[in-house]
Amino acid sequence: MADHPSGNRSEGEPREEWRTRWGFLFAAVGSAVGLGNMWRFSYLAAEKGGAGFVALYLLFTILLGLPVMLAELTIGRGARRGPISALAHYGGQGWRWLGAIFVAAGFLILSYYGVIGGWTLRYAVEAATIGFAPDAGAHFGDVASGFDSLGTQILFMIITIAVVSGGIGAGIERLARIAMPGLFLIMIGIALYAATLEGASDGYAYYLNFDLEKALAIDVVVAAAGQAFFSLSLGMGAILTFASYLPRDSDVARETAVISFADFGVAFVAGLMVFPLIFALGMQGEISGGTIGALFVALPKAFESMGGAGRIVGGAFFVALVVGALTSAISLLEVIVSAAMDAFGWERRRAALVGGVAVTLAGVWPAFRIDILDLADSVATNLFLVGGGLGIAIFVGWVMDDPIAEASVGSARSGVHTVWRILLRYVVPITLIFILWNSLPETWAKIVGVFGSG
Ligand code: PHE
Repeated sequence: MADHPSGNRSEGEPREEWRTRWGFLFAAVGSAVGLGNMWRFSYLAAEKGGAGFVALYLLFTILLGLPVMLAELTIGRGARRGPISALAHYGGQGWRWLGAIFVAAGFLILSYYGVIGGWTLRYAVEAATIGFAPDAGAHFGDVASGFDSLGTQILFMIITIAVVSGGIGAGIERLARIAMPGLFLIMIGIALYAATLEGASDGYAYYLNFDLEKALAIDVVVAAAGQAFFSLSLGMGAILTFASYLPRDSDVARETAVISFADFGVAFVAGLMVFPLIFALGMQGEISGGTIGALFVALPKAFESMGGAGRIVGGAFFVALVVGALTSAISLLEVIVSAAMDAFGWERRRAALVGGVAVTLAGVWPAFRIDILDLADSVATNLFLVGGGLGIAIFVGWVMDDPIAEASVGSARSGVHTVWRILLRYVVPITLIFILWNSLPETWAKIVGVFGSG
């Protein structure tokens, strides 16, 4: 091998950094806010019986999400490396495997996330040009299968690769600073509009009326925990990687609160737009099955039945969805890219291209088979993210020396840090082991469902 093949990073080059604190926050919130908050959250809330699921999801965001988020931010900022090297930095070479699992999780998630991202792109473009199809179910069938699905996935991935190639400040931060405020405005606008529709109150009732008995079913508990990790981008090093571009004096405890609150807020507002729209327009039958396609069938149907206003509201909705999906996909690719830059000394553009193309190829399978997409999502969330969250909690709670000293750089050491350590040592691992264990039968049943019938 040549000493410095072209395209390699030269040693000692300073690490990229976010240009501003807000830039980092928008990018991190951009990672968290995505299809998870809108597509995944609303279809699970529908499948798992509404309000009970929402309450548990909030509980897990606080109990599990906040401590793991702070743990990822602490490791990333302190190590200033991609996930594999960061874990080795604090835990020794033996911990590289956990980082490698993170990269694998990012690869798996992005392979199907890009497919769904492609569908949203197609809906957004169609809303602006030809409008929503009269037969929404059949149209979704076309959009989400075969070469249609593959083609839009490729397009979506090209944009993702292009932004990540641009780098932290000029690519990711620049996009997030424009895109995220735009997304918030669109969502609030649609939620307010939905409130004016007759029949919206049935949607609120469905979404917000809490039924304790339903919430205690084990499948609801498992789904809510997985959703908390998926939605916050936790358990696979995405937040860790973004934090590795933070200046050392940033306040990670404060950023944990801001990112988590924004993510829950967006998911909650997504529910406030989706459910009233669906109920006001009588589309509840479309979501009752809680299938992956629910959002892509029920909402376009609702928009179509609203006439001209539907084109505008629906177009805005899908634009917001594309933006959310894109900023999340970027963070998934960044995990792979930063790991490749560390491991092989590649420069960013090369890592983005090679990593991005590999993920796109892996996405051919879910693009053609929605049952594979569904399975990949269950495995990624219930095994990889929940398991990864467990790994991080054990790592920071038990392995890393003095995590409190590291976490309190840039802020004051306080009682919050003591509570954090106790959560990471006991509460988070025990809860996650319970959840992981209980998710196995359902994941197994899905595997058998897809492959077992031959
Ligand atoms: N949080 C993103 C969403 O809600 C998905 C994601 C998961 C992104 C894991 C990065 C890492 O859509």
